[in-house]
Amino acid sequence: MKLQRVLQYAQHLLMQSIEEGEIAVDGTAGNGHDTLFLSQLVGENGHVYAFDVQQQAVDATLNRLTEHRVTNTTVILDGHEKVANYIQQEIAGAVFNLGYLPGADHTIITQGNTTVVAIEQLLQLLKVGGIIVLVIYHGHEGGKKERDDVLQFVSSLSQKHVHVLRYEFINQKNDPPFIVALEKVKLFQK
Ligand SMILES: C[S@@+](CC[C@H](N)C(=O)[O-])C[C@H]1O[C@@H](n2cnc3c(N)ncnc32)[C@H](O)[C@@H]1O
Repeated sequence: MKLQRVLQYAQHLLMQSIEEGEIAVDGTAGNGHDTLFLSQLVGENGHVYAFDVQQQAVDATLNRLTEHRVTNTTVILDGHEKVANYIQQEIAGAVFNLGYLPGADHTIITQGNTTVVAIEQLLQLLKVGGIIVLVIYHGHEGGKKERDDVLQFVSSLSQKHVHVLRYEFINQKNDPPFIVALEKVKLFQK
């Protein structure tokens, strides 16, 4: 397969942006797959902050990290829209898997308004050359509203400061997920 699948491409983008020793953010810890991936990218001298609003997700993530003997990660039971309360340092990259936690309550979903607040805060913290990757699932109840809110916001960002990419297979059925990636190319004025 020459065209990378959405999740593979998300990882590829994160690998381009994050180096050993840096700080990364998982905005939606869920079952901890991305948190583990980021923790391996930043290595033992780096750090990962992972957020989730559900205790079940925090526990699943902590279990996965323990299984893999990961010690460079902080898992936070709070919304990603509060990220600026927890992180003041420069970050190298961030990832979000929007939607609901597989195997859990499908009514607990990420929401456009809070996702947008998190992106705004992360763009301030992001290094120039850093990337925020959003994997947008929109087939579930509420998913299309969040998709549209996020697309409206990211389309309005100044191209002088942020390059915004959409990566999507357009001939797949059943609302396949797609990627929106934001690369910061210039500091915002204070
Ligand atoms: C699609 S799942 C994430 C899957 C995860 N990346 C993995 O590797 O398993 C989305 C997660 O976002 C969480 N979530 C919903 N609203 C949130 C918010 N405001 N802040 C942080 N996490 C949130 C849900 O609880 C759910 O676990």
